[in-house]
Amino acid sequence: MSEVVAYEVQGAVAVLTINNPPVNALSAAVRQALSKGVDQALADEAVEAIVIRAAGRTFPVGADVREFGKPPQEPHLGTLCSQIEASPKPVIAAIHGTALGGGFEVALGAHYRIIDKGARIGLPEVLLGILPGAGGTQRTPRLTGAGPALELILSGKPVSAAKAHKLGLVDRVSEGDLHEQTLEYARQLINTGAGPRPTCARREGLEDAAAYLKAVKEWREKVKTNRLEAPARIVDCVEAVVMVPFETGLAMERAGFKHLVATDQARALRYAFFAERAAAKVPELSAKPRDISRVGVVGGGLMGAGIAYTCLLAGLPVVLVERNSEALEAGQGRIKALFDGGVARGRISEELATKQFGHLVFSTDMSALSQADLVIEAVFEEESVKQDVFQALDQVMRPGAILATNTSYLDIDKLAATISRPEDVIGFHFFSPAHIMRLLEVVVGARTSEDVTATGFALAKRLGKIPVRAGVCDGFIGNRVLSAYRQAADYMLEDGASPYEIDAAMREYGFALGPYQVTDMAGLQISWARRKRLAPTRDPEERYVRIGDILCEMGRFGQKTGQGFYRYEAGNRRGLEDPDVLELIATEREHKGISPRSFTPEEIQARCIDAMSNEGARLLGENIALRPSDIDVVMLHGYGFPRWRGGPMLAADMKGLLMMNNALKHRADEEDKFWRPAELLVELVRDGKHFGDLN
Ligand code: 3HC
Repeated sequence: MSEVVAYEVQGAVAVLTINNPPVNALSAAVRQALSKGVDQALADEAVEAIVIRAAGRTFPVGADVREFGKPPQEPHLGTLCSQIEASPKPVIAAIHGTALGGGFEVALGAHYRIIDKGARIGLPEVLLGILPGAGGTQRTPRLTGAGPALELILSGKPVSAAKAHKLGLVDRVSEGDLHEQTLEYARQLINTGAGPRPTCARREGLEDAAAYLKAVKEWREKVKTNRLEAPARIVDCVEAVVMVPFETGLAMERAGFKHLVATDQARALRYAFFAERAAAKVPELSAKPRDISRVGVVGGGLMGAGIAYTCLLAGLPVVLVERNSEALEAGQGRIKALFDGGVARGRISEELATKQFGHLVFSTDMSALSQADLVIEAVFEEESVKQDVFQALDQVMRPGAILATNTSYLDIDKLAATISRPEDVIGFHFFSPAHIMRLLEVVVGARTSEDVTATGFALAKRLGKIPVRAGVCDGFIGNRVLSAYRQAADYMLEDGASPYEIDAAMREYGFALGPYQVTDMAGLQISWARRKRLAPTRDPEERYVRIGDILCEMGRFGQKTGQGFYRYEAGNRRGLEDPDVLELIATEREHKGISPRSFTPEEIQARCIDAMSNEGARLLGENIALRPSDIDVVMLHGYGFPRWRGGPMLAADMKGLLMMNNALKHRADEEDKFWRPAELLVELVRDGKHFGDLN
């Protein structure tokens, strides 16, 4: 099949099959062909009913997001849905895979819907910062009422065929051959003279007007504090269903869509969607990945247990090795607890949990790893400890097996050089908790062979992770950028801002927590250890902020000790501002002869974000990161950067690189080394380019 929509007549039924791989996105070409196909079916006297279906893995998953931001092309998706709905011959949508967004709206434009039992439907537009713009906000509530419609549209989460049927969104669930059953359905409709049944004229969901308005009111309250613009607009559109005629509601939805799609939020969310997919595309993918059917994990601490559990959930048998039986028992307990939690939260069935847990083997003997295809060591983050483990692994592992180290900053090349097969070594920087956080920095060493990298990416995909390729340096991508963020914040702390002002400004920017709240939560000793580690190589001329060290020396390690930058009352994780900390900072300023000045929230935000973007540019210049969007993916998924801002590199592009460069140059008068614009940034400004040009 080559046409984007194939037209075929079977008996009295015209079958329009959409064929636009991989996901049948409703591009302009598909919309034009579908519109033409409907016209053709209407003009064909032999045709009494029309079926809309799709070839390949799925019914359309939505509008073609790549077309957003470009001049719109006729027919609009909404116009097409109305054309389908206005058909005088009954139209049946046959859904398989995932009918999402505009795809499901096409199905709603049809008069009848049949769905494969394994399929799902959803309206995920809100996740892209927009609203369903082809009638979804107007037709869905007419079938379901306001509550279920708003739940579907505001969560963006797809629902199963069974749930869709229960909600009245589809008419039939097909247990067998979908196409056969669709044709059978069409014949029945013809034989019974059922005729068209436009969704716009349906009222099932509108009968209980009081319940409708109550649900609207409740959802309006829920979305009130949402930083995204789309949710409130969605509630307005759904409310309009019971207030204005259908066509007016459609016009209101269309206006909302046009407005939202052009916002910075929507641009950033679209960017994030494509950035996540781009990150998985690395040059080494041309190599054939090695087969991985048995995994070993060394270390059953928090990280090791989370990693082992993730592998087991993905169906990989795991051998867990610990240094003694006590530690092994503790590791076993942790993994068991993760399975129990998974069952309690409905992530996995009890039966499957028992089965997968049965695929876990425990040992205190490294030789138990002799048959593993890949071993991930997750022992204490200390070079000498990791080296000992690697040397032991080198002795027992079979040739061709991969040695992975879970580390957040260590030098993979140095570690690889201590064993006989450096080409088989790779770094995995899992984020904690490893079974929840989707980000995985895949650290490629100077001697890592291409197929080992390809295997790392294949494994990440199997584990459901979002892998990002990073080169070797202290902290890789994420911790390097984080460290620049913290440093910018620390300078302001010393120069006059309070930790509470800085945290509030960054929350205002969109982070859930400010940098000092995060430090208190993670424990101040972590960054303290990093500073101590880097002390021998630190430029003595570089400005050094000691406030964190002083707090650590006082035993104020954060939440765990009840005191850090904040003070914590027993059983309450919400920190209170602490005058002692402010006094300590004031003393430190005096000691350094700094006269404090004030910082506006905007200045705090600009300094923190510019520091991150500039560090990102350095990482690109050093070839640690492949592309700017990879840095953004790391910051979105590992460090709580607000998704609707896209990440520091997109934020820099949106601000304008010239402006950023000027601001950095200006600040370089204060701390030249830290604020000096990265060479790559200077080059981009000179050439009139953006980070986006490098993606
Ligand atoms: N437009 C354009 N390309 C799309 C797309 C879309 N709506 N959805 C997916 N793709 C592309 C991906 O970018 C990827 O391309 P690549 O191979 O070049 O990287 C390819 O299709 C396969 O996608 P995934 O790698 O994501 O495949 P998965 O199987 O993991 O996931 C999916 C499939 C669940 C459909 C997922 O891609 C997804 O969630 N897509 C977005 C769905 C969506 O948001 N739909 C609403 C669009 S907005 C809309 O319809 C507006 C309307 O109301 C007017």
